[in-house]
Amino acid sequence: MRKGIILAGGTGSRLFPVTLGVSKQLLPVYDKPMIYYSLSVLLMSDIRQILLISTPDDIASYERLLGDGSAYGIEMQYAVQAEPKGLAEAFIIGADFVGSNPSTLILGDNIFYGAGLIQLCMTAAQQPDGATVFGYHVLDPERYGVVEFDEETELVKSIEEKPKLPKSDWAVTGLYYYDEQVVDIAHSISPSARGELEITDINAAYLERQQLRVQKLGRGFAWFDTGTHDSLQDAAAFVRTIETRQDIKICCPEEIAFDNGYITADQVLRRANELGAGTYSDYLRRLVEGIAR
Ligand code: G1P
Repeated sequence: MRKGIILAGGTGSRLFPVTLGVSKQLLPVYDKPMIYYSLSVLLMSDIRQILLISTPDDIASYERLLGDGSAYGIEMQYAVQAEPKGLAEAFIIGADFVGSNPSTLILGDNIFYGAGLIQLCMTAAQQPDGATVFGYHVLDPERYGVVEFDEETELVKSIEEKPKLPKSDWAVTGLYYYDEQVVDIAHSISPSARGELEITDINAAYLERQQLRVQKLGRGFAWFDTGTHDSLQDAAAFVRTIETRQDIKICCPEEIAFDNGYITADQVLRRANELGAGTYSDYLRRLVEGIAR
């Protein structure tokens, strides 16, 4: 069974002083904690066993927020990353949790939205082997992992981490679907010049084995990383616009769990009552009444 890992570490230094007192991935993106958005993508991929990795200081806050996962009909586990030694370390910390299963890693500060996202996630999750990552056309590729495609065949030619001279404008997003080889690959790579185990080196290892698929997220998809004050504000404004115009919520984990049949209408109502009064709990009640669909 495919396992999921959410990485919610880092210092959030670009958001100081906001993140001196609170973990970045707990900050609100409009009406819900940032981490709900990545949790939702794992639920959209039908992943029900999830390991959340955060810093020694912050892990207890995530446990308080997400508990054992039963509110969403899933199993949550928690682990600590003692120091920010890179995204690929998630598969070393999570080696026992992943075992010999395929796994999906999502960064807790990435937000995805678009019609057809569920199908893309499900397709990636159902691949029997290799790796699937997602490319997104951006203005500032040098801030990301960058993938280069062959102009004729569209096949992936190279993948580089934060290159000074990017070979394309296609950034690699923070959502990675791997087969069971990933734990061994993570153990085989060495730290980069900045002293981190780079996720890009894992992807490069799959590319070398001719097992890296890059799915482009084209027009109609929104992808935000929320590392700066501006990108955080952009993401919140985007979510607010969609939600108020369509009178729905996006990336509401209880809704996805209900749709997937992980939790019953009674459980949704119980959850709404636990959350008391407010627009979020009202929405859960309306879901059960069938008004919001
Ligand atoms: C990380 C990855 C990078 C990827 C990005 C997506 O960058 O190293 O390859 O494009 O996440 O958000 P970081 O957030 O560590 O700067």
